[in-house]
Amino acid sequence: MAKTSDSWGSRMGLILAMAGNAVGLGNFLRFPVQAVQNGGGAFIIPYLVCFLLMGIPLLFIEWSSGRYGGKFGNHSTPYIFDSMVKGPILKYIGVFGIFTNLAIVAYYAYIESWTLSYVYHSIVGTFGGMSQGEVAGFFNSYVDVAQSTTGIPYEAIVFYVLCLSLNTYILSKGLGGVEKVAKIGMPLLILFGVFLAIRGYTLGTTGASDLFPDANAWDGLNFLWTPQYDTLLNPKVWLAAAGQIFFTLSVGMGTIHCYASYVNSKDDIALNAVSAGFMNGFVEVVLGSAIVIPIAAGYLGLDWVINNAGFGMAFQTMPYLFQQWGPILAAVAGVMWFGLLFFAGITSSLAMGTPWIGFMRDEFGWGQKKGAWSFGALALLMGLPTVFFYQEGVFDDYDYWGGTVSLVVFAFFEVILFAWIFGMEKGWKEINTGADIKIPLVYKFIIKFVTPVLLGWVFLASIPSMVDNILHKDTYNSTSFADEYYAEKFDGKGTSIGTVEEVKPQEVKFSFEN
Ligand code: PHE
Ligand code: NA
Repeated sequence: MAKTSDSWGSRMGLILAMAGNAVGLGNFLRFPVQAVQNGGGAFIIPYLVCFLLMGIPLLFIEWSSGRYGGKFGNHSTPYIFDSMVKGPILKYIGVFGIFTNLAIVAYYAYIESWTLSYVYHSIVGTFGGMSQGEVAGFFNSYVDVAQSTTGIPYEAIVFYVLCLSLNTYILSKGLGGVEKVAKIGMPLLILFGVFLAIRGYTLGTTGASDLFPDANAWDGLNFLWTPQYDTLLNPKVWLAAAGQIFFTLSVGMGTIHCYASYVNSKDDIALNAVSAGFMNGFVEVVLGSAIVIPIAAGYLGLDWVINNAGFGMAFQTMPYLFQQWGPILAAVAGVMWFGLLFFAGITSSLAMGTPWIGFMRDEFGWGQKKGAWSFGALALLMGLPTVFFYQEGVFDDYDYWGGTVSLVVFAFFEVILFAWIFGMEKGWKEINTGADIKIPLVYKFIIKFVTPVLLGWVFLASIPSMVDNILHKDTYNSTSFADEYYAEKFDGKGTSIGTVEEVKPQEVKFSFEN
């Protein structure tokens, strides 16, 4: 293992980088859709329970394992596990923590590149005067890479390569680069998010559009926040909640290990872990739920939102709704919304690059530059199928296997390793070393018993949907970013399938339907 001098510049930088790692597209695109698809208020309780019983424990485990491995100069999960317990099997399990990131970044950076392109189109006013159908059609022709109806030939590829290059370049600068992006991106993200959320909260309770006189932004918020106890026994809702918690906190993938491995062995991790976790939660439940859902409900009505909830809302509906605010405000809102998504995305995709770089250093002594560029090349290689075969559902496969199943499996190994092999006594001591807060003792019990049992249950209960997935029955849902998205109603050639004005409210379903 090569000696590294790289480390975080300041505690603030570390927390922002960790928060940037967690706060991502998951907060703004995945969470609202998961919540709506799983019954709104019915989702929130399992979500919070999973946060406390799996999310927080895994944050403690990953931060402390990472810092522990860092003491031995290790920066990737295989080597970090190896420093905790000697044994080749564990080391191989750790390799998961590297490849998961490559699978996720392949499609994640693709979405990120859309946000970049949409910032551009918001500025130049591409969406001005477009009908809802045309805005939706624009996106559709955008992802159909062979078309050039958006103005730039192969635009999707151009922005994808641009976006990956940017990531690679920043990564080649080491932790300092990551920290700088987080210091600029996170405050802007919060600022933009607060603006848009205020708009979401104040859009009003009387129909904001003539199209849907009953449209009401508060219907959306009430739907999300009114607890519904009757669905608490539905396992599907619990699985969706657990999956969202993993994805959103970035646990079960090795990025937190890697970031934490650069923390000084005497510095706090307990308070840092909790702060980053809560910051992510704030951005998700306060900001993430206050933008897409209420704004869409404010113009199109809650029924529309429930029937059409899908990840495409962000790209196919929002630019159209912003147009209702006049050209200038529409441009500002577009830049804020897609800019926010871009910052959320890049601070996370940078995190996904670090485990690979750390591993190449641990294993082969590669330097930062070589690590970064090889990561960029691999991400491109793995990402091209998502770009070219987007419509064939490759995207879904990556998200399902890379972004959902692997996280649960990996997290399960982690907690067993930490609590049962490394040992809970030692583990608890590690978590509390240098701690700036007093962690309730009950967490010792939770980490040892509750978290592994819950994780095991989540895994077992997901087996049927995995089998379905392998058999391509496509009955899994509520796990994927994109599964609800691709619309057969589109003809794939960018032809508008009609506008809101042309169809009756109940029929406004341009997309998101299987
Ligand atoms: N937590 C990020 C989000 O919510 C996603 C992510 C996955 C980040 C894997 C890092 C590693 O969007
Ligand atoms: Na997140």
